[in-house]
Amino acid sequence: MPSALPIADPAPLDGLLPASVVDGADARNLGVYIHVPFCRVRCGYCDFNTYTSDELRGAKRDDYASQAVAEIHQAEHVLARAGLPARAVSTVFFGGGTPTLLPASDLARLLGTVVDAWGLEPGAEVTTEANPDSVDLDYLLALKAAGFTRVSFGMQSAVPRVLATLERTHDPERVPLVVAWAREAGLDVSLDLIYGTPGESLADWRASLDHAIAQQPDHISAYALIVEDGTKLARQIRRGEVAQPDDDLAADMYELADAVLADAGYGWYEVSNWARASAAAGSVEGAVSVESPESHQGDGAEHRSRHNLAYWQGHDWWGVGPGAHSHVGGVRWWNVKHPAAYADRIAAGQSPAAGRETLDDETRRVERVLLAVRIREGLAVNELTAEGRTAVAGLIADELVDARAAFAGRIQLTLKGRLLADAVVRRLLAD
Ligand SMILES: C[S@@+](CC[C@H](N)C(=O)[O-])C[C@H]1O[C@@H](n2cnc3c(N)ncnc32)[C@H](O)[C@@H]1O
Ligand code: SF4
Repeated sequence: MPSALPIADPAPLDGLLPASVVDGADARNLGVYIHVPFCRVRCGYCDFNTYTSDELRGAKRDDYASQAVAEIHQAEHVLARAGLPARAVSTVFFGGGTPTLLPASDLARLLGTVVDAWGLEPGAEVTTEANPDSVDLDYLLALKAAGFTRVSFGMQSAVPRVLATLERTHDPERVPLVVAWAREAGLDVSLDLIYGTPGESLADWRASLDHAIAQQPDHISAYALIVEDGTKLARQIRRGEVAQPDDDLAADMYELADAVLADAGYGWYEVSNWARASAAAGSVEGAVSVESPESHQGDGAEHRSRHNLAYWQGHDWWGVGPGAHSHVGGVRWWNVKHPAAYADRIAAGQSPAAGRETLDDETRRVERVLLAVRIREGLAVNELTAEGRTAVAGLIADELVDARAAFAGRIQLTLKGRLLADAVVRRLLAD
């Protein structure tokens, strides 16, 4: 979650939603995101809405779970008042920050509040992010007992020099340990990697991929390092203390990741995300499918992050916590950013929303194109305007869009297209 908030209309202090959010709700899942805005130290590259203890301006970590519980109660009331059908929650995702800086009992209490409010669908996905140095076996066992199904560790790299440039606090030796504990606890495992760190060679990146794969996680996310304005890393680069990331090298790293991951049985399902195929399915290298997302059993579909897919597919989700974003039926809002401001709103019995916007049909269509193109199943050609459809032949000629899928009626990115996904979107949306 990027930390800058959009500028839009003020949100009502009672948080109530317009009746329009009910339209089509039966076809949308309900997800819950719970933001935990605390980190022990801030990594130099990170722009997330997170605070170390000396940045909290009086807000207290110990009080946070009760505040978030209060927002979940608000959410239950607001969704019911809008007339939305009763829907059990499909996915819950605790992100940060570092959710695992809170005691496991706080995460369990928050999950329990979600369950009490809406119930969970059978087989619901319940994930928390975790820093490798913030959990032990007992903690992970407590999460499993509370109903968590999945943990996503911020591994980033296996190379000590690269971790040092990123200012990560964990020892790379810690990753196999926490993954083994998570497995012992019965949790699915995802690992986050970052590539393109200044000073990272292709061989370093290969070593990180190999180490990640050796842990046999169910899911791997690989993000190109973004140099966010205002971060310590951006200042170091500006002052010439750290080299500027090299875009060509980052592209080579992406291609390497896709090849190595496919060889190891991980298929891409979103530009930065790969899921482990089940043993029988084998490699999905180069596979192009024109089927629906639900029809991918056996090719990693069961290990995809269903929570993230729900964002990309425009379902409903309530984001709890400072700076968290929500989307329900075309209405989008975001909470006040600072934990102290959030605490004040909750204490006053007010909605913590800072601003909100109602998306018009054209904005929703543009967002649908923007998000769906990045997913392996892509988007139907008939969701494009006439101008967008005109761009398809050129995108096929430039080998950015798969020809066979396009003739079958879907826009699906090639490997080259994934590297240039933003440019593909611009061409599909050009007037
Ligand atoms: C909230 S963090 C994950 C949990 C935990 N705080 C940690 O870092 O281990 C989410 C992920 O975003 C990614 N990330 C954060 N800032 C990034 C940046 N500037 N460029 C690329 N990836 C970034 C990292 O891979 C990180 O694991
Ligand atoms: S631990 Fe995670 S959320 Fe915290 S500063 Fe580092 S990358 Fe950002």
